[in-house]
Amino acid sequence: MSEPADRRYGPATLPRARGPLSAAVVEALRRPPHDLPADLGVDLDPADPFTDEDLHLTLFLCYELHYRGWLGVDESWEWQPTLLALRARCERVFEAALRRLVGAPPVPAAGVAAGLAELVAADNGPALAVTLQRRADLTQFREFVAHRSVYHLREADPHSWALPRLGGPAKAALVEIQTDEYGNGRLDRMHAELFRRTLDRLGLDTGYGAHVDVAPAVTLATNNLMSLFGLHRRLRGALLGHLAAFEMTSSLPNRRYGNGLRRLGFDEVATRFYDEHVEADAVHEQIAAHDMCGGLVRAEPALASDVLFGAAAGLAVDRLFAAHLLDSWAAGRSSLRAPAPPALPPRVSLVALPAVAPPAPPALV
Ligand SMILES: [Fe+2]
Ligand SMILES: [Fe+2]
Repeated sequence: MSEPADRRYGPATLPRARGPLSAAVVEALRRPPHDLPADLGVDLDPADPFTDEDLHLTLFLCYELHYRGWLGVDESWEWQPTLLALRARCERVFEAALRRLVGAPPVPAAGVAAGLAELVAADNGPALAVTLQRRADLTQFREFVAHRSVYHLREADPHSWALPRLGGPAKAALVEIQTDEYGNGRLDRMHAELFRRTLDRLGLDTGYGAHVDVAPAVTLATNNLMSLFGLHRRLRGALLGHLAAFEMTSSLPNRRYGNGLRRLGFDEVATRFYDEHVEADAVHEQIAAHDMCGGLVRAEPALASDVLFGAAAGLAVDRLFAAHLLDSWAAGRSSLRAPAPPALPPRVSLVALPAVAPPAPPALV
């Protein structure tokens, strides 16, 4: 298995399995593409479809094949029919749970932008941003950043899947937003790269996917949600609604995150990712609600309720994520999964060994 040329940009190494389904997928992906057993995942019925580790890692393993792939995994797995069938089974469970969770938000007479504003105004989620601004210690802040790195190191990519599926005003608005997210084509301004600097300043691994193994199901669910919406053309309305809700709830929390890092003594290199979003997303939220979602619904009126479903689903899963972090910290626990045990040192002769520096401590202990 060869090392990637630059592990900052992926692909990531395959994560550790979290149950029988993800174990079967990880094991299969290590080998050349082949048919999986037909009954794999047919009896999938998790008690909680938002916190089931095996379900969400399995989905994440499948989805990543459409982003950067996995290190050492044959790229043809991306369209292997039996793996796609397994993914579809997992998606049905996840999507059904999402629809049970948020229902079908009604579209107000004033239009879809007004509907988005109502959903955002009613979003009384746990005060994660306030906690990070005022009270979180460095360990907790590092945990938060590790969770978010799963998305931010590929920031904007899931929503870019909407581009070839749109035309007209909605497409122009999405391009305007995504252009900012990708730094107007300047590497040092790409939001993913700004976030990499935050990771670096906090002493965390900056490699693409470096924190997937310690990210619990609910964190993977926030990512799987975007991939589910992004990879299905039929869910393009939900994808745009998700992006709009994301932008409309970004500016104030990002100000708080930046202030939290300043409180902990970090400099403007560490806070720049968050500072950048305070201004940018105040603009993006207008473009997203009125030009992008409004433009989509003017062209395709039947998609209005999908837009609101996507927004409501994004807000709801984010509330579950925030509650997980706050509940973990209130109970004195880490919000991350346990890191992998350190690799055993190789068995070597004790004779004539050169001096070796002690191994660096794990990133998150
Ligand atoms: Fe961004
Ligand atoms: Fe934005």
